[in-house]
Amino acid sequence: MIQIGWFGLGSMGLAMASNLQRHLARKTAPSLMYSNRTISRGDPLKKLGGTPASSFSKLVSQCGIIFTMVSNDSVLQELVTTAINSGHSLKDKIFVDCSTVLPETVGATVSKLKEKEAKFLAAPVFGGNPIAVDGKLVFAIGGPKQAAEVVKPYIQDVMGRKVIDCGEDAMKSSLLKIAGNIVTVNLMEAVGEAQVFAEKTGLGTGPMEDLIGEAFGAVAGGYSKRIADAGRLTTGAYAPPLDSRPGFGVSLAIKDAKHAFSMAKEHNVELPGLQVSLDNMEAAREYAGECLDSSSMYGYLRQKAGLEFWNEKSRQGNSQ
Ligand SMILES: NC(=O)c1ccc[n+]([C@@H]2O[C@H](COP(=O)([O-])OP(=O)(O)OC[C@H]3O[C@@H](n4cnc5c(N)ncnc54)[C@H](OP(=O)(O)O)[C@@H]3O)[C@@H](O)[C@H]2O)c1
Repeated sequence: MIQIGWFGLGSMGLAMASNLQRHLARKTAPSLMYSNRTISRGDPLKKLGGTPASSFSKLVSQCGIIFTMVSNDSVLQELVTTAINSGHSLKDKIFVDCSTVLPETVGATVSKLKEKEAKFLAAPVFGGNPIAVDGKLVFAIGGPKQAAEVVKPYIQDVMGRKVIDCGEDAMKSSLLKIAGNIVTVNLMEAVGEAQVFAEKTGLGTGPMEDLIGEAFGAVAGGYSKRIADAGRLTTGAYAPPLDSRPGFGVSLAIKDAKHAFSMAKEHNVELPGLQVSLDNMEAAREYAGECLDSSSMYGYLRQKAGLEFWNEKSRQGNSQ
């Protein structure tokens, strides 16, 4: 049986790895070996039976399939360099990266690992932390077919509800992820604008949230809950407590939008809606700092309408 490894236990990675470990335990397969820059974040995974590894290099040496779920391109590049410089044979190992990175990063990673006779699959995901917790993400998988077939049983109905096959060119799945994020970020902006409109006109955020959830689907409804909170389920998660980790950090969404712009520029495509959303996310971060969700353009939209950046359920400032 193949030993599986996991590096990256952030908002998404911990939820995904936990579902994978539960699956391995059900199958009485070797338990998931994990590592993370902040290793203590793996404690819940250890409780599920996961095995900590002290470094990425150690993880690579012991595993045949290595998943990574990290912030951005430079972290992935550092990990690949670490694996290559570790001195361990990488022959026939399969690396699966689920992070959102540029196609050119994917291309460079494929080439570097190919030189070491290892395979690379790009497998970015759609859906936020609650969807990851439920094991219902959508994966876009690209790379060598044989490797994809080996890995899919660890994804389908384990961490994800759907695997979109992007073919042998791993860069295509990265491109799909970046294209999908154009929709995600614009949708958050649209929901934020509608909720500020509803509050200021006296319509109220409750009926608006009902309509968004009913008429525009669960994803839009989820964004509404992150921001306006019609007094029901959630907190004002667009600006969570300072000691917490945002569901989808604003800087990650800014990175994703910038990835879309860099691809768009190369192909002479304009993204005016995304530009508005990006400007508003940057303005929110400028005002309220790093500890914000990607939906925090809502706070800035509130300010522009003469309301406080913070709403009743969000944190109330940066001093608490
Ligand atoms: N959150 C979402 O809704 C969502 C949805 C789809 C895709 N994505 C994408 O998925 C990826 C992960 O997102 P996330 O929300 O899980 O991010 P996150 O909560 O910020 O977690 C980032 C992970 O990367 C690690 N990391 C950061 N800098 C590092 C470094 N210099 N060296 C080693 N490890 C480092 C972090 O380690 P520590 O724990 O030590 O900080 C953590 O494990 C991103 O590419 C994001 O764009 C996110």
